[in-house]
Amino acid sequence: MLTRDACLARDAADPLAPLRAQFAIEPLDAGGVIYLDGNSLGVLPKATIDRLRHVVEHEWGVGLIRSWNSADWITLSQRVGDKIARLVGVGSGELIVADSTSVNLYKVLSAAIAIVAADRPERRRIVSERANFPTDLYIADTLARAHDLELTLVGDDEDAIDRELGTGSKDGRGEDIAIVMLTHVNYRTGRRHRMTDVTRAAHEAGALVIWDLSHSAGAVPVRLYGEGDAPDGAGRGDPRDEDAADFAIGCGYKYLNGGPGAPAFAWVHPRHLARMDREAWRQPLAGWMGHAAPFAFTPEYQPANGIARFLCGTPPILSLAALECGVDTLLAADDRTGSDRATSDRSGPDRDGPDRDRLNALRQKSIALTDLFIALVESRCAGHGLTLVTPRDVDRRGSQVSFAHATGGYAIVQALIARGVIGDFRAPDILRFGFTPLYTRFVDVWDAVDRLVQVLTSGEWREPRFSVRAAVT
Ligand SMILES: Cc1ncc(COP(=O)(O)O)c(C=O)c1O
Repeated sequence: MLTRDACLARDAADPLAPLRAQFAIEPLDAGGVIYLDGNSLGVLPKATIDRLRHVVEHEWGVGLIRSWNSADWITLSQRVGDKIARLVGVGSGELIVADSTSVNLYKVLSAAIAIVAADRPERRRIVSERANFPTDLYIADTLARAHDLELTLVGDDEDAIDRELGTGSKDGRGEDIAIVMLTHVNYRTGRRHRMTDVTRAAHEAGALVIWDLSHSAGAVPVRLYGEGDAPDGAGRGDPRDEDAADFAIGCGYKYLNGGPGAPAFAWVHPRHLARMDREAWRQPLAGWMGHAAPFAFTPEYQPANGIARFLCGTPPILSLAALECGVDTLLAADDRTGSDRATSDRSGPDRDGPDRDRLNALRQKSIALTDLFIALVESRCAGHGLTLVTPRDVDRRGSQVSFAHATGGYAIVQALIARGVIGDFRAPDILRFGFTPLYTRFVDVWDAVDRLVQVLTSGEWREPRFSVRAAVT
């Protein structure tokens, strides 16, 4: 029997529960707010407040320009990148923090296009999903036009990509595909691709693969080098070379808790980085911070080796410092998962180490929270027109749950927010709820559904004030 007391008991027994204290969540608790939107903007970590104060008052206020060296601002993009690398299963020096996700996609997609143009110029298609996040589609469409390529958008049923690649058949469908560009966890439905399977199939079809990890980094264990045969990164079997993705990008402000507009990240497989080094390849936004020697001030562009070439302009230090605090809230889960392996000074992909333990523990909690939410909404809100759109299969979903409502999606979300439960709405009909296991409690799930029941049974969501559309939904 699901009861509020049972939820409280689960919280009391939860070994990850103390991680919540890392967040400045007391004002939310005091106001009776239940925050289920960490998939859009993560909660403020307490450490960020002190860190930003320190950066502003001391590093900027006192150190001024000297802090580029003395406070090591100049390597902050790499340092935070190395921390995020541990969350997505890649090695240090392979991932960098810079710009926005859209801009990083422009850079890595340009790189992929350049590789295909050199190696397989007969391949003319970029394949993505119609349901992909629009910015990804806009960037891909723009680059496809510029390079005289075709952007093919497949439907969002589970097998659409497989069919396009011709996986398992000999119809040669995938022969002209240059690049497969997908978002791992769909922003609207929460559906999660089987990353390793899709990557392998794309490689077998001869295409390069780009993953947008905006809704997965920090939310689910990501294995860019492949998962062997294991679901959910559980660590069975050795990944094969063809399982490793080619490029990845992702947001800093969602599950990484980096703050509004936090910089994003970009990862490039070392085999491509090595080739770029050999060929002195320049990315399309070849700014001075991606130069081999920015402070030589030479008029000629000479790209930096490695992932640093993907930098463009001066890094946003305040935002980077905040992002580092956000990423640290995830790395802190180490202590709670009983890992005793040193986590510093490592290089190479972390396939079996504590980062995997940590994210698996968080993942188990995320599954439990999302399962509970689905069960409670379906049992307590039946007959109110809500339809689950997130896959029930835990291997196919991220850390969010979405329900569709034919007419009242926006208004129900607004009425819920008025009752202190913050989720969001994604047009045309999706009510979206994110579950961040670092700070969401089982009792929050219970109370959120309780208030949803009140919103629906009272019919208050039909009040005209809840249908007034704000700019951000
Ligand atoms: C999957 C996905 N990609 C990209 C973005 C946008 O990223 P940015 O605004 O940093 O360019 C979002 C934003 O929500 C997203 O969900």
